[in-house]
Amino acid sequence: MSVSEAKVVTGQLANLSGNDPSGNTRDDCAVISLKHVTREYAGHGSVVRALEDATFSIVAGEWVAITGPSGSGKSTLVNMIGCLDRPTSGELKIDNINTAAMTATELDRFRADKIGFIFQQFHLIPYLSALENVMLAQYFHSMTDETEAKTALQRVGLGDRISHLPSELSGGEQQRVCIARALINNPPILLADEPTGNLDAANQKIVAELLQDLHRNGHTIVMVTHDPEMAGLAQRRIALSHGKVFCHPVGGPMVTLRRATDRL
Ligand SMILES: Nc1ncnc2c1ncn2[C@@H]1O[C@H](COP(=O)(O)OP(=O)(O)OP(=O)(O)O)[C@@H](O)[C@H]1O
Ligand SMILES: [Mg+2]
Repeated sequence: MSVSEAKVVTGQLANLSGNDPSGNTRDDCAVISLKHVTREYAGHGSVVRALEDATFSIVAGEWVAITGPSGSGKSTLVNMIGCLDRPTSGELKIDNINTAAMTATELDRFRADKIGFIFQQFHLIPYLSALENVMLAQYFHSMTDETEAKTALQRVGLGDRISHLPSELSGGEQQRVCIARALINNPPILLADEPTGNLDAANQKIVAELLQDLHRNGHTIVMVTHDPEMAGLAQRRIALSHGKVFCHPVGGPMVTLRRATDRL
């Protein structure tokens, strides 16, 4: 079903807890849903509970900031939403699918289709050009298309840097290559872990504008940030402390909700 055919419900998020006249509940619309999710790390003679009993959902098209002090479990949470890691217990659904029973190969496929990653540390391949870094993501997803990869780099303002190696790009430019790479397979969900953590003010502004543009185009964005200005751009803030979610307000800004299945 195309997005235009999708049943679109506009209203206050707060109204979607069960009283929504369309019949859609917040859970219907959830593209990311966690129920009692815990992640423990064992080793070094003790168990670290990095995330404890997290229960919340994020709806399609929402922009959510994950905040909290260092060590509070933000990356742990994002890694699980990104299917790079699995919960120790609890249920996690992405696009209404519980990934727990998937094989590693199925999970790789699922991740490539659904999720684009933007990391603070960029994780670009140092001996590949900007263009080749983007094409590598196409290769792992399906097949390479140089024209499309060039267009993605032009979209982030790097049309004149496609042949540069990462070491020949500024930090802000490298982050924009990462954004082009994250977008190249058109995933509905974008996960960003400190996307502006290593950038100066000018480049932070460029990246913030790109994220705003992506949000306007319907992407669901989950963004870890320490920066109050960046967090302020999101529609909602999920705050973590010592592995516990202590704040995930719904309500506030008007958002457009689509059922997760409408995007498939
Ligand atoms: N692989 C691991 N093994 C053991 N403990 C871990 C592992 N990964 C993370 N931890 C612990 O889990 C807790 C949460 O870590 P996490 O990386 O999620 O924090 P964070 O909120 O992202 O912090 P920061 O803002 O510094 O990036 C920390 O106490 C950390 O030491
Ligand atoms: Mg982290």
